[in-house]
Amino acid sequence: MTTAVEETLVLVKPDGVARNLTGEILRRIEAKGYSLVDIRMLQADRDLLAKHYAEHEGKPFYEPLVEFMESGPVVALRVAGNRVIEGFRSLAGATDPTSALPGTIRGDLARDWGLKVQQNLVHGSDSPESAQRELALWFD
Ligand code: TYD
Ligand code: MG
Repeated sequence: MTTAVEETLVLVKPDGVARNLTGEILRRIEAKGYSLVDIRMLQADRDLLAKHYAEHEGKPFYEPLVEFMESGPVVALRVAGNRVIEGFRSLAGATDPTSALPGTIRGDLARDWGLKVQQNLVHGSDSPESAQRELALWFD
């Protein structure tokens, strides 16, 4: 294991905000020892979401995902810590809430409400390159 102080982008998705889980999600991030550097609540527009999810354009879940993400406000968090990019994805758990292990944000707090796998409460950047790109989109 190498030391690497990183920053990552976490989004509390519209389901997390609507279910009043923003504090609980931030609590888990801070309890792990990561630091909140910046925070912003906003209604994301399609242009921002298209850039954010560019890698998924054309996939069958893309349109429902973008529609869901623009359905209500989201909370964007700039979070710092050693290996926080991988570490937050561990905290978040698997993409599909049904498979996400207990102890994770998605495993404990999200459930599969039918076909809506996109309602999995949080987004976390998946690599240093994604983190840099996504932080610039949501914060600069
Ligand atoms: P992805 O980047 O693969 O997952 P993660 O959020 O864990 O990095 O996908 C982005 C979002 O798209 C995911 O959080 C939920 C939604 N999604 C679906 O609705 N269906 C799918 O089959 C996948 C893979 C993702
Ligand atoms: Mg992803």
